Amino acid sequence: MFLKAVAVGLLLAVCLIGRRVEGQRRGKKIVSGDSLIYLGQDRNPWKPLIRTAANISEIRSIKSTFQFRTYDPEGVIFYGDSGDAQDWFILSLKDGFPLMQISKGDVQVSVTGGPKLNDGIWHTLDVGSKGKFVVLDVDNLPGLVVGMHSQQTKEVVSGQIRLALGGLLASKDKMIVELDPQMDGCVRDGRWLNLSMPWEVDEDELLLCHQNIQPGSYFAQEGFSLFNTSVFDIDEESGLTVGLSGNFSQMDGTLLSVMSSEGELLGALRADNKTNKLHVTIGKHKDELTNNCKRLQITFLRSKVEVLQTLDKSIAFSYDQESTPGYITALRGGRLAIGGLLGDREDMVGSHFLTGCLEKIQIQGNNIDLDTALKDKSASSHSCPV
Ligand SMILES: *[C@@H]1O[C@H](CO)[C@@H](O)[C@H](O)[C@H]1NC(C)=O
Ligand SMILES: *[C@@H]1O[C@H](CO)[C@@H](O)[C@H](O)[C@H]1NC(C)=O
Ligand SMILES: *[C@@H]1O[C@H](CO)[C@@H](O)[C@H](O)[C@H]1NC(C)=O
Ligand SMILES: *[C@@H]1O[C@H](CO)[C@@H](O)[C@H](O)[C@H]1NC(C)=O
Ligand SMILES: *[C@@H]1O[C@H](CO)[C@@H](O)[C@H](O)[C@H]1NC(C)=O
Repeated sequence: MFLKAVAVGLLLAVCLIGRRVEGQRRGKKIVSGDSLIYLGQDRNPWKPLIRTAANISEIRSIKSTFQFRTYDPEGVIFYGDSGDAQDWFILSLKDGFPLMQISKGDVQVSVTGGPKLNDGIWHTLDVGSKGKFVVLDVDNLPGLVVGMHSQQTKEVVSGQIRLALGGLLASKDKMIVELDPQMDGCVRDGRWLNLSMPWEVDEDELLLCHQNIQPGSYFAQEGFSLFNTSVFDIDEESGLTVGLSGNFSQMDGTLLSVMSSEGELLGALRADNKTNKLHVTIGKHKDELTNNCKRLQITFLRSKVEVLQTLDKSIAFSYDQESTPGYITALRGGRLAIGGLLGDREDMVGSHFLTGCLEKIQIQGNNIDLDTALKDKSASSHSCPV
């Protein structure tokens, strides 16, 4: 035991960043299992961020404990398997509730329930097996229990067990419940099977977990969220309505841009923190507002385009049909971007990116989840640093 500890110690070219112990092993960066880990990522969201493995023969405790915090209702938290993904386990959130999916031998089960966890508060989760049952405890109270019995399964006593955070090591097609894997959340103080082996990092750089957060979508001037307008159900009568809330005086850059399929910019909203103005562009018209309102709403109708400000919905600007001909038709096959300015028809890259926190984004009256975007390069879809 002592020798093993020394060996692990030698493998770690230890440097301390906060509580995260980092080092290198076989050319891969490593972190300790109790590090503070942000689960979101910019690349393939199905790929794990960090992973580790242990020999089953070494495992004395079949329980893992960690703390978890998020405002995101859906995404993958933790994955484990044995026999190269023959048997596997996935813990995720769906609609805010914990969801466990397990495949063991010829048995596949999913179970969901317990308390909602996406309240932005740190929760302690314990996952373990007790005989034929897999048990999830939340904040030391019973959360989920699932019993499994099969004639075919036999106890596995050798081979490896693998663990992963922020993605899967099995094919996503094997899952019973469909999921959007992206998770804007953090894990800390992990004790994984009570083993102290380090975790390998699959990515060059892990994103930062902010100490304090509030609900919202945070843009770090690195990109935008892109949608096809066809997903928003735009009809001739009610048109398209986009509502944005937040402290606009703390924002800088493009809030919203809308473009026709022909590559014509139909409308744009931009915040400028130097002049303290909000710039409104509708077709060829340009206007400005002071940035001290808390909510902006823009509605594209067949006969006009309206920009409303604050909660009392006073009309800031209204543009009639002559200035906005055929807008609804042009909108329908177009694109909509939050947090950046769309370029021409082929451009998926954008420019003039936003810095700041949009507390609420509503389209056609519904809160929009940026994880459903065609392309999402906001820094975090469900939380803003405070
Ligand atoms: C795990 O087991 C394999 C053989 O089954 C062995 O070669 C390897 O050294 C073991 N690893 C550890 C960390 O004990
Ligand atoms: C976990 O490991 C520690 C030290 O490595 C040991 O003292 C403790 O008994 C273990 N707990 C369990 C449940 O195996
Ligand atoms: C979005 O729209 C573009 C152009 O209209 C189209 O090529 C693309 O397939 C659409 N994507 C989705 C996911 O609907
Ligand atoms: C918005 O931000 C400004 C500048 O930081 C601050 O002075 C103001 O109090 C904030 N407004 C609200 C309503 O929080
Ligand atoms: C305006 O926003 C930019 C981008 O975030 C920031 O660098 C700058 O400090 C801000 N300026 C003021 C006056 O707040």
